[in-house]
Amino acid sequence: MKSTAGNTGGIQKKKMNGYVGFSNYPNQVHRRSVKRGFNFTLMVVGESGIGKSTLINTLFDSKIFPDREEMPPSAEPVKGVDVTSMSADIQENGVKLRLTVVDTPGFGDSINNEDAWQPILENIESRFDAYLAQENRVNRSKISDNRIDAVIYFIKPTGHCLRVIDIEFMKRLHTKVNLIPIIAKADTLTAGELELFKAKILADINYHGIQIFKPVSDEFDDPETVADNREILSKIPFAVIGSEKHVERPDGTPVRGRRYPWGIIEVENEEHNDFIKLRQMLLRSHMEELKDTTDMVLYENYRTQKLLSMGHVQDNNVFREFNPLVQMEEEKRAHDGKMQKMEAEMSGVFQQKVNEKEAKLKQSEEELYARHKEMKSVLEKQRSELEEKKKRAEASARPITPMEQQHPTKGKKKNIFSGF
Ligand code: GTP
Repeated sequence: MKSTAGNTGGIQKKKMNGYVGFSNYPNQVHRRSVKRGFNFTLMVVGESGIGKSTLINTLFDSKIFPDREEMPPSAEPVKGVDVTSMSADIQENGVKLRLTVVDTPGFGDSINNEDAWQPILENIESRFDAYLAQENRVNRSKISDNRIDAVIYFIKPTGHCLRVIDIEFMKRLHTKVNLIPIIAKADTLTAGELELFKAKILADINYHGIQIFKPVSDEFDDPETVADNREILSKIPFAVIGSEKHVERPDGTPVRGRRYPWGIIEVENEEHNDFIKLRQMLLRSHMEELKDTTDMVLYENYRTQKLLSMGHVQDNNVFREFNPLVQMEEEKRAHDGKMQKMEAEMSGVFQQKVNEKEAKLKQSEEELYARHKEMKSVLEKQRSELEEKKKRAEASARPITPMEQQHPTKGKKKNIFSGF
């Protein structure tokens, strides 16, 4: 057994020594899927009486569409196109399938069918919208998926090319849904007519750039699957007949088919029509691929367009608005930015106050210094005046010389203290 293991430098191929058990994983998935069951939503589009209900009942071998007699009589005929759906739980070999068939009564039945595709497109998109809304809910534990997994488009067996209504319908819907065009009531055309009709339909589809669902093989497919896919592909568009009734073969075996004066035509006979190949693709081999394409390609494209049109920005494949981690990160960044701005503003105010205080202090210091200087000069002045006075006083208080004592009047000078 071989395994691959990752390391920091890339992927290494490792040989295992014994049985570990993970090769059983596909069986676990299988068991889980069987337990849960499957959902499949199929839409049928085609004008009234083209064989839609008969084909669906034949495909699932069940009365998905009730008989006409069992249906309640409608009060008035449907005006325009209506969209109705019916669900059924069916089981095969213990596997449960919840099948929902969406019918489109009224399509192609009006005199003017110009906009017949419109209500159908709206219905498909509203299902995408409902899914998108659920995906964006906080609690996503119970998402109900009503998206259309495939549309079987019934082409009238005219033998000519596609009609305007066919082209218009497929062109409008091919990017929103897996289209499976089929030629209805194929028993009304000969084998040669069918071959020619198929070629014309494919040419029209190619010419108008319409994408239809086709099984494609890849490198992982075994040769048998590749051959099966090629076989299915060669039958597109499937020319089918439907019948819930049993007819007897010449050997007496009962088979589902239609009886004609010239013989019988069997539903499950690949030489008579492509019913088997349609059923194989739809139910046996490609049901999961149809669901995957709906989810990962058609819905994803719709979702991207929708969110972009709503103004959401796609950044590194992550929609910011809808990724809570990215959103939290952005909120934190915005909060941090706000705090930094506030801090800067506050320190600016503080600095301004400090500057003002400093300027005031400096001013009062200068004023003090000026006053001090002024007082000092006043004092200096007073001191020098006093000095002067003192000098003068000392000079006048000089002692009497002996000469002056003998001749008190000679050269007698006026004593400054003579007045006292
Ligand atoms: P609405 O319910 O009116 O939309 O019709 P529908 O498209 O569901 O058609 P329905 O299956 O009721 O078939 C209409 C008629 O066509 C019935 O008489 C069917 O027996 C017949 N029919 C259905 N499938 C085929 C077919 O493959 N070949 C032929 N020849 N007749 C068919």
